[in-house]
Amino acid sequence: MKKGFTLWFTGMSGSGKSTLAEAVQGILLERGMNVEILDGDVIRTNLSKGLGFSQEDRDINIRRVGFVCNLLTRNGVAAIAACISPYAAIRRENREMIGRFVEVYCKTPIEKLVERDPKGLYKKALAGEIKGFTGIDDPYEEPEKAEIVVNTAEETIEESVNKIIHTLELMGHVPASETELEYSEEEEEEIKKRLADLGYI
Ligand code: ADX
Repeated sequence: MKKGFTLWFTGMSGSGKSTLAEAVQGILLERGMNVEILDGDVIRTNLSKGLGFSQEDRDINIRRVGFVCNLLTRNGVAAIAACISPYAAIRRENREMIGRFVEVYCKTPIEKLVERDPKGLYKKALAGEIKGFTGIDDPYEEPEKAEIVVNTAEETIEESVNKIIHTLELMGHVPASETELEYSEEEEEEIKKRLADLGYI
């Protein structure tokens, strides 16, 4: 059976997790993989319905998502999680449980997120109408060893997606395609350096 893996997006609200998850899903489907997305906003309407945004509830939420990703991964599926997952310890727990785990840090400066604010949530958080909002008055613990870092304020979606797919190819999680991805030598170097630093290649 084909081996699965978990692609774990983490980053603040509006940092591009869901958009990138969907774009990556499209490419993985084209390459014949079974893919499932676990998106925070969706998960909170069913699997984690009723949970709030205290540290305790966020931890429960992220453990649940990790649990499902583990089931999918061991059954050959590419599981894609797109949740803020602000606490490093729970991300690490999921990484250790799942094993075939690739972390993508969507690193977008908070000023950009406040400027974009498609859901109007930062505005409300800054006005004190939402309490405990990640990045405003609630913590976000940056990953130190993410396999992939994307910055959707500086890169196009295509650039970020190509970086993700190429990393997955180099790690052996995704079969290479005959149609070449577009990325520069500089980008290739960056990807390889990161994987070498993490001991993968
Ligand atoms: S997590 O912290 O438990 O990983 P999750 O990804 O499921 O969060 O949900 C985040 C989404 O919930 C945000 O994109 C936003 O739409 C909404 N949300 C509502 N309240 C908050 C809050 N206090 N902090 C962050 N996101 C919030």
